[in-house]
Amino acid sequence: VVPSLASSHGFLQCLSAAIPKPLLHTQSSPSFTSVLVSSIRNPRLFTPSTVRPLCIVTAINASHVQAAVVCGRRHDVRIRVRSGGHDYEGLSFRSERPEVFAVVDLANLRSVRVNGKAATATVESGATVGELYYAISKVSDRLAFPAGLCPTIGLGGHLSGGGFGMLLRKYGVAADHVLDATLVDANGKLMDKQAMGRDVFWALRGGGGESFGIVLSWKVKLVAVPPKLTMFRVPRSVDEGAVDMLTKWQEIAPALPEDLFIRVVVSKQVAEFQSMYLGTCDTLLPLMRGRFPELRLNRAHCREMTWIQSVPYIYLDSTATVEDILNRTTSMDTFNKATSDFVHRAIARDVWVKIFAWLVKPDAGIMIMDPYGGQIGSLPESATPFPHRAGVLYNIQYMNFWSADTDGSAQTRWLKDFYAFMAPYVSKNPREAYVNYRDLDLGRNVVVGNVTSYTAAKVWGDKYYKGNFKRLAMAKGKVDPHDYFRNEQSIPPLH
Ligand code: FDA
Repeated sequence: VVPSLASSHGFLQCLSAAIPKPLLHTQSSPSFTSVLVSSIRNPRLFTPSTVRPLCIVTAINASHVQAAVVCGRRHDVRIRVRSGGHDYEGLSFRSERPEVFAVVDLANLRSVRVNGKAATATVESGATVGELYYAISKVSDRLAFPAGLCPTIGLGGHLSGGGFGMLLRKYGVAADHVLDATLVDANGKLMDKQAMGRDVFWALRGGGGESFGIVLSWKVKLVAVPPKLTMFRVPRSVDEGAVDMLTKWQEIAPALPEDLFIRVVVSKQVAEFQSMYLGTCDTLLPLMRGRFPELRLNRAHCREMTWIQSVPYIYLDSTATVEDILNRTTSMDTFNKATSDFVHRAIARDVWVKIFAWLVKPDAGIMIMDPYGGQIGSLPESATPFPHRAGVLYNIQYMNFWSADTDGSAQTRWLKDFYAFMAPYVSKNPREAYVNYRDLDLGRNVVVGNVTSYTAAKVWGDKYYKGNFKRLAMAKGKVDPHDYFRNEQSIPPLH
């Protein structure tokens, strides 16, 4: 059903009755554009032709979220929910096709409570991972949370899609550590883990955002880290042996002790090895000499620091402080597009030579590779919807960037062509992908008779969720049988 002008009007009236005026930003409000762009990072997702919401509700409590859902159902206006706004395709604030919809923005629902004794935290979806990390560090230097690197990612979307960072080999994905959640369902009802039931609670922890309702808050288990750990960043060019190092890295990085994580960012001729080791430089050096002597790591590379100091060290520039991870301001300067792969069998040396030839082409992008193995691979694929577990050597993220003076066609073409080139060397049947690195080129939903088609969605669903896709669709059928919460890649309901 396409909402008519009358239903939009009825929707807005319904909202006005339940939500204070300053929290309701319609297209004609002076605040509309600044609220809309507040967490957008990628100008590709905000152009003159972007389909904008009818209004944005900047909720400050659960009743505002519930009212938005109740009004939306009554007047046939769909809702998209936004926490940190970091969705790679902007699905939390824009629609690909002309559609009348509203955004419920949770950026103001961002409290974080840490219980150091119990090693848990209760965190609202609009908090960023940086805010969670900071709050943990204020309570203890021996506790941490195993989530992503970028401090401005919102917990709402991040936990919904899995979420991983430098602790993934030791502790798996962020969603593996969710103990409870509060959800507003398609009837506007507030539910906890017990009320929503086993299958829906399972689905929330990695089944992708938007599909099951609006998660307001999460209770998570924190993990132990030593008071001092060792970081390093070592760049090696092709001339310095990067081809041989990468060839070897693929086999050793996923098999190292869980305390040692070495990722690689490859750009042009240079592979930068970025590492977190849950121990001191004194124990790291002999380990590296034994397992990966080719990297020639020495004491001068070691940076000993606390876990919280490692966050700005790895993601922000070298002058950044721990307080900088609280900065939610995002800038919209570089356009980008990304996609992902999972590798199960090491890529041969001669192929790495060809990969470097791709990376030095004009308009080339970069590769970011995170090694798996350890804890992430020890859970069964069905433990949470995130299925990329045993047998995965590493994850690849391909990303390309451009600025406003080009239209990005050369850069997106490079990404597509390089992705096609990589097909023989990565996972097959399905070619796996990570939902938090969302890519609409993997497939878009088709709506048949006002319900998202399961068969059409399987094309992208199998890539993100493998054998878990059907169970996700059954959970969707239980909690949102009429398919109210939907977007271009939401889970279709199965009954
Ligand atoms: P956003 O608010 O855009 O939401 C993403 C999706 O979830 C949307 O479909 C939205 O509707 C839905 N959603 C949001 N809040 C919800 C809620 N409360 N309830 C239900 N659905 C909700 N990933 C990673 O694993 N490790 C990493 O290191 C990084 N690094 C990184 C850096 C940068 C610069 C970006 C832009 C992204 C990453 N990511 C990442 C990817 C990130 O995990 C992913 O984009 C998350 O979905 C972002 O969550 P937000 O809440 O910020 O997004």
